[in-house]
Amino acid sequence: MRYTITAALIYANGPIHIGHLAGCYVPSDIYARFLRASGHDVAFVSGTDEHGVPITIRAKKEGLTPQQVVDKYYVQIKKAFEDFGISFDIYSRTSSPIHHQTAQDFFTTLHQKGHFVEETTEQYYDQEAKQFLADRYIVGTCPVCGNPNAYGDQCERCGSTLSPTELKEPLRSMLSGAKPVLKATKNWYLPLDKMQPQIEAYVNAHPEWKTNVAGQCQSWLKDGLKPRAMTRDLEWGIKVPLPDTDGKVLYVWFDAPIGYISMTKEWAAQTGKNWEDYWKNKDTKLVHFIGKDNIVFHCIIFPAMLINEGSFILANNVPANEFMNLEGDKISTSRTWAVWLHEYLEELPNKQDVLRYVLTASAPETKDSEFTWKDFQTRNNSELVGIFGNFVNRAVVLTHKFCEGKVPPAADLQDIDRETLATLAEFPARIGESIAHYRFREALVNLMDLTRLGNKYLADTAPWHAIKENPERVNTIMNVSLQIVATLRIVCEPFMPFTSVKIGQQLGLTAETDAQTWQNAGKADLLPAGHAIGEGFLLFEKIEDATIEKQIQKLQDSKRMNELTTKQIAEQKPETQYDDFAKMDIRIGTITAAENVPKSKKLLKLTVNDGHGERTILSGIAEHFSPEEALNKQVCFLANLAPRKMMGMESQGMILMAEDRDGSLAFVQPSKPVWNGGTVN
Ligand code: MF3
Ligand code: ZN
Repeated sequence: MRYTITAALIYANGPIHIGHLAGCYVPSDIYARFLRASGHDVAFVSGTDEHGVPITIRAKKEGLTPQQVVDKYYVQIKKAFEDFGISFDIYSRTSSPIHHQTAQDFFTTLHQKGHFVEETTEQYYDQEAKQFLADRYIVGTCPVCGNPNAYGDQCERCGSTLSPTELKEPLRSMLSGAKPVLKATKNWYLPLDKMQPQIEAYVNAHPEWKTNVAGQCQSWLKDGLKPRAMTRDLEWGIKVPLPDTDGKVLYVWFDAPIGYISMTKEWAAQTGKNWEDYWKNKDTKLVHFIGKDNIVFHCIIFPAMLINEGSFILANNVPANEFMNLEGDKISTSRTWAVWLHEYLEELPNKQDVLRYVLTASAPETKDSEFTWKDFQTRNNSELVGIFGNFVNRAVVLTHKFCEGKVPPAADLQDIDRETLATLAEFPARIGESIAHYRFREALVNLMDLTRLGNKYLADTAPWHAIKENPERVNTIMNVSLQIVATLRIVCEPFMPFTSVKIGQQLGLTAETDAQTWQNAGKADLLPAGHAIGEGFLLFEKIEDATIEKQIQKLQDSKRMNELTTKQIAEQKPETQYDDFAKMDIRIGTITAAENVPKSKKLLKLTVNDGHGERTILSGIAEHFSPEEALNKQVCFLANLAPRKMMGMESQGMILMAEDRDGSLAFVQPSKPVWNGGTVN
């Protein structure tokens, strides 16, 4: 069977995090590796999406050109995937010439076949920047929550999805700050409304799709499909291949999925294959792996494009995942609430498979799921170290101890051996079934059951006892144990490819000496008697509390740092007159004594030398300063504030404090020591 497997072309506008891996790239990799091990012809294709507004926004933020942004992140993202063993056959980019050509040709074909509707509409335009404004570039007041800084596509405060026309005044352009004006512009629309019956037929022909995917499709269909512009007024992107279309590019969601095709072409050219086999042959199965925010594009819009073009196959399945949350909160790049892949590997080197395992075990397959460091630690320590690694290690070590490091012959099988081998034989098909149906969590549970089978077999047969009473028996036990390890090596490979290689080393096998086919897995004679195995070493190591605590701390710190930089400057107070200011008697004094106020968390009782003598001021700074820290500070204070009673004491004045962005306080002090009682004017 031939398979074309695609994994979403991620925007090259930032580094990738665990949510991306869990939602799309680990599952697609498991699927591709499994199919290859089963002898299928696989093209596993992905790359970066380098057009669209998200790229230009990032460029603006980083003070770079869009080209510099995509060049930087393409390299970073590609490396992160390599580091985690995502086995793409090609990882390319939508900025490649072959992609530009392919996307333009596709557009031209649809245009020539009359599949577009030209329409002139009024869009917001920035007269100073001389540009039409993408929704993201229009800022105004949110009609839902009143946030004055809502974007034309979304309010980040309340999360509402918006369109620019819903925004309330005052509107401004993010480019120049000018007020956007409506201006007529012509674009080319895909009349999805007219294609509703075809799309419905396509979706309904796939009752096997995951419920979360089918649900979203049905809801779009129920609302009724609407025409969507396939060209946009934007500088960055693929030029529209029609005359008089300066300043217009292909809609990023038009060009990006065509990227799957152009990348397959690129790969085929490199490897001497025929790309059309992978996109136009009815016997080929096309599968799109994506996150849930991409469902409509892959299940409705891209198929509509392909149907109109006429010569392509449509996706057989779109096993989209939901989102993975992190420590109780949504993963967010802008709020820096994420675990970045490149940082993970710096801090937990060589633990790719641990992350792959944990992300698969708690993958958001049917609903949103959650990653916590505690769970990561528990799964590592009790499942990977305690069960998986423990079994493999015992089998290898005992073979060295009792059988001179060679696979011993299995003679005289007893019931327990036969039963264990029979159970072993069932595992590969069962795990494969789960993978083939995109149930990766279930597949992983089965994989762990196989290691449990191994552990139970060792416990029941206890070769460490048998060696004294019946050394012949030990040969059989170790043979059976090693056959389990050999199968484990094959069936764990899609999930934990690095571990699979390590098991191979310990069994004295390499990819060259042994074809790791799924069909061979489960056999009782995978390893021939007499085969010399390699040295044993631990596959996984325990993760200590301190390691986990450090990661949690790091997350919290980065969130705090982020809040620190996003706190808004307080609104200016209404205008005032000098006379009002002059009524304030602000003076310099020195704190000569400080103590906590019993029963009050907030108040410090300060004794202030004001030049004439000492006065008591109660100040609400106890959560920021200890009495020792306040002592001897020279301060500014409001000297003529009417005395106030607090906690049974009289406060004679008020200390002036400055508030920092993170809410921390600082004393307002003269820039050189000034005599106490000095006035502030
Ligand atoms: N760039 C999009 C995102 O990150 C995904 C594009 S998938 C493709 O959400 F099909 F368009 F390529
Ligand atoms: Zn809002």
